[in-house]
Amino acid sequence: MARKIVSVIDGRAASDAPAGSLMSTNPSRLTDVVAEVSLGSAATLAAACAAAKRAHPAWADIPPPVRGRAISAVGRIVEANQKALARLITRELGKPYSEALGEVQEIIDTCDFFLGEGRRLYGQTVPSEMPDKQLFTFRVPVGSVAVVTAGNFPVAVPSWYLVPALLAGNTVVWKPAEYAAASAMALVELLQAAGLPGGVLNVVFADGAATLGGLEQALRAGTLDKIGFTGSTAVGALIGELAGRHLQSPCLELGGKNPMVITPSADLALAVDGALFSGFGTAGQRCTSLGTVIVHESVHDEFLGQFAAAVSAAAVGDPARDVVYGPMLDQKFASRFEEYLGWLQPHHKVLGSSGIGKISGANPRAGFVGDSEAGLFYHPAIVDGVRADDALFRQETFGPIVGVMTYKNLDEAITLANAPGYGLSSSIYTSEPRDVFQFRRGISAGMISVNNSTSGAEAHLPFGGNGKSGNGSRQSGMWVLDQFTRWQAMNWDYSGQLQKAQMDVTELAADMDFRLTT
Ligand code: UN1
Repeated sequence: MARKIVSVIDGRAASDAPAGSLMSTNPSRLTDVVAEVSLGSAATLAAACAAAKRAHPAWADIPPPVRGRAISAVGRIVEANQKALARLITRELGKPYSEALGEVQEIIDTCDFFLGEGRRLYGQTVPSEMPDKQLFTFRVPVGSVAVVTAGNFPVAVPSWYLVPALLAGNTVVWKPAEYAAASAMALVELLQAAGLPGGVLNVVFADGAATLGGLEQALRAGTLDKIGFTGSTAVGALIGELAGRHLQSPCLELGGKNPMVITPSADLALAVDGALFSGFGTAGQRCTSLGTVIVHESVHDEFLGQFAAAVSAAAVGDPARDVVYGPMLDQKFASRFEEYLGWLQPHHKVLGSSGIGKISGANPRAGFVGDSEAGLFYHPAIVDGVRADDALFRQETFGPIVGVMTYKNLDEAITLANAPGYGLSSSIYTSEPRDVFQFRRGISAGMISVNNSTSGAEAHLPFGGNGKSGNGSRQSGMWVLDQFTRWQAMNWDYSGQLQKAQMDVTELAADMDFRLTT
């Protein structure tokens, strides 16, 4: 019997399923049902926001160092459960176990960073223009926050929102991806074990339409103060529009078409390692996944030969074993990936596997690990000869596919790297410092890797993008605090009289005509 998972509002299980239920299945063995998920409606989400809003004043009153201790406890509890949570992620999302362990580590790292922030959350004391007056700034929590996340990083990316939001004194409604419900519920349980009061962290399972409807209801009711969203550019635009109508700016982390530029001076073996990891790790389903390799024409053939050999030899299959990648996350992503494969054109040359599309008995992958018929496994595809007007070049293709194209000079490479209009992650392989800084100046991405892949951001640098990848908001590290707090400015005049700023300010007499006589 599959485990039944329901929304939790105000510390209580909401066991009704007004929008029916769905099965979260193991994508590497589709007969394995991981959980039966009861789906809430728009009203469920709105009720959760109302509960979060009610819980907010009391949570905001808890001294930040005490909230920091709770975050510290979350980190230690997650650490003690690291293997169990990683095993569940591998089962529910098909992420190779070593990557799943890394994903859980990212929660621990995030907690380690923010536990001390409870004793900082610094404001400033600022001098005034006038005597006997002092200026101050304070960080104040935003209020109730809705966090809507994807399932490709079912717990790490959510923790980038949940941990700082809670630490800063906000209450949260988390709407995880339905197909990642069991992993999400495990994280909720680990957070609850740290002693969060009911209503401080609520979780709602709902589909996209119910979520948008619920967010709108809550915004109208004034019970939702901030939205954090990780997902597609199209849905991000809808959320941005909705929030904007209520004068809110959401924290948006959207798709990417992340370029890797390989210059003539690059270490090609290193670039191949990076392209393999970022192009095909998590079956290409990270928002930081490599989109297109833009390689100098003088090293194209050598790079392509090495890259194709590495991808052909890569272990693909059962994520519980030692593989580069496992299945697609869910049927929805498998179906979409098949559509992207329809963008292949006669001028493209596909390399890297013994077939194209779904791996099966009839379309086998040489060296496949495990039973390919049991799950949603796809051949890796390197597509050489990609052109700037190809859909494959311009659009995100969430899956195990990487385009390759050539360039003649670095300016052209940078123009190509920016052309799709995303701007999340990017990478350059070179031995020339001059190339690095020319690339950094010209690239529109929020994140740049030098001699490293487009994936694998560390949990304490600002994470986020520009253009179609986001609205400039940043997660992680100290920068995310600006998403979950607002600055409040206070001035305190203890002179006992009205001192008017700009008008009652003493000025020292300066001789502006003074010149040196030399
Ligand atoms: C994402 O795909 O949404 O940098 C996040 C990385 C991971 C996070 C990816 N640490 O690849």
